[in-house]
Amino acid sequence: MKKTNQTQTDKNLQTAFAGESMANRKYLYFAKQAKRLGNLEIAKLFEDTANQETAHAFSHLELIYPPNELNVAKLLEIAIEGELYETNQMYPGFEKTAKLEGNLEAAIEFVEQAKESKEHASIFAQAAKRFNSLAKVEKLHADRYQKALNNLH
Ligand SMILES: [Fe+2]
Ligand SMILES: [Fe+2]
Repeated sequence: MKKTNQTQTDKNLQTAFAGESMANRKYLYFAKQAKRLGNLEIAKLFEDTANQETAHAFSHLELIYPPNELNVAKLLEIAIEGELYETNQMYPGFEKTAKLEGNLEAAIEFVEQAKESKEHASIFAQAAKRFNSLAKVEKLHADRYQKALNNLH
């Protein structure tokens, strides 16, 4: 969970999670390249290892976001926060640096990815809105049901 004062181990868990996640996507990409190069055996080795890296990443995530502290609203909130960070801070900064360094290809890619992150944030926000109104309706039903029960006694 997000704490104001993070310990070194909290930070290390984030780094370890990032590393295992990267290994997962990198090996899937390598599998794709190995296939393109005609080596199916090595492609399979990368795919199998990628799956293990996913399991490693999930183990770190369970410590970062303990399952018993999560609910659906919280999941959406964390996801929105991450996508907005990418949209508003990370990609604009990366784009600026890429332009300064004359790497237009990277600058264009960062702008495109920022747009995608914004889109993801808005999809999650819409889902959160739907979820909240649903939760309210359910609470209303529960309250009515409780009232009806109380009236029986
Ligand atoms: Fe690993
Ligand atoms: Fe995203």
